[in-house]
Amino acid sequence: MPSGVRIGSAADGRWLSLDPEYAELLGSEFGAVTAENAMKWGNLEPSPDVYAWTGADQLLTFAEQHDQAVYGHTLLGQNDVPKWVDPAWPAARLRTVLRDHVTTVVSRYRGRVWAWDVVNEALDEDGSLRDTLWLRKLGPGYVADVFRWAHAADPGARLFINDYGVEGRTRKADGLLAMVRDLRRAGVPVDGVGFQSHLQWDDRPRDLVGNLRRFAQLGVSVAITELDVRVELPETPAKLDRQAALYRQVLKACLAVTECVSFTVWGFTDARSWIPGYHEGYGAACLFDAALVPKPAYAALIDEL
Ligand code: XIL
Repeated sequence: MPSGVRIGSAADGRWLSLDPEYAELLGSEFGAVTAENAMKWGNLEPSPDVYAWTGADQLLTFAEQHDQAVYGHTLLGQNDVPKWVDPAWPAARLRTVLRDHVTTVVSRYRGRVWAWDVVNEALDEDGSLRDTLWLRKLGPGYVADVFRWAHAADPGARLFINDYGVEGRTRKADGLLAMVRDLRRAGVPVDGVGFQSHLQWDDRPRDLVGNLRRFAQLGVSVAITELDVRVELPETPAKLDRQAALYRQVLKACLAVTECVSFTVWGFTDARSWIPGYHEGYGAACLFDAALVPKPAYAALIDEL
């Protein structure tokens, strides 16, 4: 790749063995991978202190065989706290369980995961901390704690806070900016901000480049972590062209900002995308269609690289 930006995709280890063509494309087209689900808390630790490493390990091994960097996702996400974590537990117990989880996972992959999404989707649309179990029981300091635990477990890993709806200048982005500034001032090891970028074909994010820059000015790296551009079905050539323009715009923004270190798409084929299952009436969000044929969006990215 001519640019210094790592170009990655989220992937699910299941398809690596079931679908050789999928594995071939993942291995040849991308310089980095993110586990789409395998490293989430609920999947890694299905019952207390019982770890299921296989899925994550498989993906890591694949990445290493293909000389790819691994982006860890995610230590604490709003939707992936396991069921056995009981909200009725006293704060001290919840804190211990969270600390043990973060420490165990980051230590295991120490030196093999270059960056972690430490806290994912912590903010509300108004830019304040989302009302979660952690905020209620541990207070707002839980965010700093998780970063400190992760840093202690692997001082070499780059630690990111990741969210959606923050790509353009939004209230939520303003809140995230203020939060990252405060965390850095307090000496919390936040190294980067991840912009998920789950976009829609007719979106027009407000001042992408300016927004990425104002974060970079805080002294952190920035990254596009989960880009996809969903299309309202049925897809038409005109919509796919708009989609391609948006993919291009996001890549250009990342390339324009020196601190943008990584650009990751949330899956690369429409055959395996999460979008149809979560956004009714939408699909066709990826770079390759369901038959693994490259779409205009793929050509647009190649053109920029
Ligand atoms: C999604 C996965 O793609 C799905 O397979 C899973 O069922 C739910 O989670 N933001 C995130 C990701 O940070 O973890 C989500 O991934 C997509 C939205």
